[in-house]
Amino acid sequence: MDMPYETIVYEKKPPIAKITLNRPDVLNAVNEQMLFELGDVLEDIEKDDDIKVAIITGTGRAFGAGADIMMFKGKSYLDVRKKVIERGKRTLAKMEEMGKPFIAALNGLTLGGGCEIAMACDIRIASEKAKFGQPEINLGLTPGWGGTQRLTRLVGKGMAKKIDLTGDMIDADEAKAIGLVDEVVPAEKLEDSAEKLAEKLASKPPIAVRCMLDAINKGLEMPLREALSFETDEFLISFASEDAKEGISAFIEKRKATFKGK
Ligand code: COA
Repeated sequence: MDMPYETIVYEKKPPIAKITLNRPDVLNAVNEQMLFELGDVLEDIEKDDDIKVAIITGTGRAFGAGADIMMFKGKSYLDVRKKVIERGKRTLAKMEEMGKPFIAALNGLTLGGGCEIAMACDIRIASEKAKFGQPEINLGLTPGWGGTQRLTRLVGKGMAKKIDLTGDMIDADEAKAIGLVDEVVPAEKLEDSAEKLAEKLASKPPIAVRCMLDAINKGLEMPLREALSFETDEFLISFASEDAKEGISAFIEKRKATFKGK
């Protein structure tokens, strides 16, 4: 069932959920309402066992042009901290930590908070028309939803500093070259490419998917020796699953595995 929201479109076609940022008049800028609605939708994706993968994209010529600058006007330091920064960070962390893959299908301008949402996703596919940047510097701000941290982990220190300090936009090919996006496709193929990838990921055994996302995301924050030990734990969790027994038996019996998510 598709649910009505003011700032996003949420469509569920199990095993795939699709979230479309939908404020095209302001290039899908993220306001407080959008943060609430995203929070609600993420709860639903987390709860719904039939949903295995989520796609997030935008309406019109932008994926997202960042936090809605209007949100900052007239707000106190504490209000901005609580209602914009912390709430936004929780929303992005939820996507990253859910254990279900999020695919960002980046259809156009992907700036500021838009780029930060994309970076909290697991895989980023960009239209050749997409453009990327962290323009906060031009507002006298630093990024607040991961634009100095997830960006640095994706593209390295020097390139992150270049992007953050200049506020300049880069095109999709450059974003691919530096590792900010994982694939670039013609604009008309973006939706199809994201859906095909989502279908492929949804067909994989969900426990191994969850363990793998955890191993990569959390492992990256640990020293290597600790991360390798964490990887062992995740391997053993996947090894203990019924799906692993099925996958191994199916290989030996030369048949296609049927995974049950157990
Ligand atoms: N917050 C609020 N409104 C925004 C917005 C944002 N982050 N980004 C764009 N908009 C609005 C514009 O104000 C404009 O509204 P209007 O038609 O009522 O004037 C509308 O979206 C279209 O944007 P416009 O600036 O006319 O399009 P453009 O193609 O000339 O420029 C950008 C596109 C993205 C370069 C420009 O809109 C921009 O610099 N946006 C701010 C990006 C930013 O700083 N993001 C980080 C925020 S922390």
